[in-house]
Amino acid sequence: MKQTESSKTIGIGLLGLGTVGTGVVKILKSQGRAIEKKTGIRLALRRVCVKSLSKKRGVALDRRLLTTDPSDLIRDPSIDILVELIGGIHPAKEIIHRAFLNGKHVVTANKALLAEEGGSIFREAARLGRKLGIEASVCGGIPIIQSIREGLASNSISQFLGIVNGTCNFILSAMSQGNLEFREALRAAERSGYAEKNPRLDIEGVDSAHKLAILARLAFRTEVPLKAIFVEGISKLSKVDIQYASELGYVIKLLAIAKRHGRAVELRVHPTMLPLDHVLAGVRGVYNAVFLHADQAGDLLFYGKGAGEMPTASAVVSDIIDIAKRATGQADLKVRKSSPPDALPVRPMDEVVSNYYLRFQVEDKPGVLGRIAQTLGKNHISILSVHQKESHDSRSVPVIILTYEASEKNLRRALRAIDSKGGVRQKTVVLRVEK
Ligand code: HSE
Repeated sequence: MKQTESSKTIGIGLLGLGTVGTGVVKILKSQGRAIEKKTGIRLALRRVCVKSLSKKRGVALDRRLLTTDPSDLIRDPSIDILVELIGGIHPAKEIIHRAFLNGKHVVTANKALLAEEGGSIFREAARLGRKLGIEASVCGGIPIIQSIREGLASNSISQFLGIVNGTCNFILSAMSQGNLEFREALRAAERSGYAEKNPRLDIEGVDSAHKLAILARLAFRTEVPLKAIFVEGISKLSKVDIQYASELGYVIKLLAIAKRHGRAVELRVHPTMLPLDHVLAGVRGVYNAVFLHADQAGDLLFYGKGAGEMPTASAVVSDIIDIAKRATGQADLKVRKSSPPDALPVRPMDEVVSNYYLRFQVEDKPGVLGRIAQTLGKNHISILSVHQKESHDSRSVPVIILTYEASEKNLRRALRAIDSKGGVRQKTVVLRVEK
């Protein structure tokens, strides 16, 4: 591209040319001129580090840019911004560290790394005066990081609920709309190319916990130890609960939930029942959404594509532009000393309070329901409604109880007592309900 007289050039080094990396190259090629017009900055792709030089690529690229050695990017003085898209903790962490030491700013989509090691990486960036762009690590194309950091800078955020994993949302939507069991819906996600080769991190809620840790860190300005987040995935959900929830006027979503209670925070990921008129109830398929409450702006809903080549690449390039503007003096690059984040204690799950959906599979005989109700009452759990379903099997019948708010500790104690007594045929199914 021809450089206009007033344009400044910013050199980009791309580490990883998978789905998102390919999208970044496509955007730099197709939008480079428009970006230069808008910002006066020419983004020049200097080197691309790949695993295999011979692999066929989804975008035309000058072969001379390719290398298999990350050091070729780290040591290249013409590279201002290193874009890390290889994922995983090692060697990404070490490469980012070396890039900072070599004067480079970094853009990364690496949610696992940020969730596990974010604290030390942010501190390192601040100490060395480098910028770290992380927009692509959460919710793909939705500019949620920038919104929390800048758009809502004058607000205090008290809570957010997020559908932050597209694969799980696709599976839950397929279970609900296609009346499928979990395994069948997972296969549908795999057939559509949405599920990763090893979908465990997604379906067991770990990917959502990573994103929750990153968002909560920014929203509440606190360190978030990943281990303190309660995580339950969707692999044990059965379609009967999705059906019963729907009959009761609810939909089940895998939510990342963060609530601030004064000097403590509540952080959890689990399948959650939402009333059908909740703003997140209509978020279907691979879409992501975050519903956030800020004290000045009020309720906000962020919605969009949370994964995929172009949405995630769009987030990467927005970080590149933001850093490039600062590096060329259009905005302030200086990393000022802000006070370090707090270490707000994470409320133990036992103390979390929620409404519950309980499905008991019980013997259909006198006194069974009475005993359950009595045990719930003894444990300070108040019943909101009771629904007995027609039995498909003569020996047992499903009974669904919705409760008022109760603590997890009381609920667990009550269910231990109920499940260990006669009359209950299988472990009680518990779903938390968000109003
Ligand atoms: N596996 C993730 C998802 C991709 O399904 O949302 C984006 O982080």
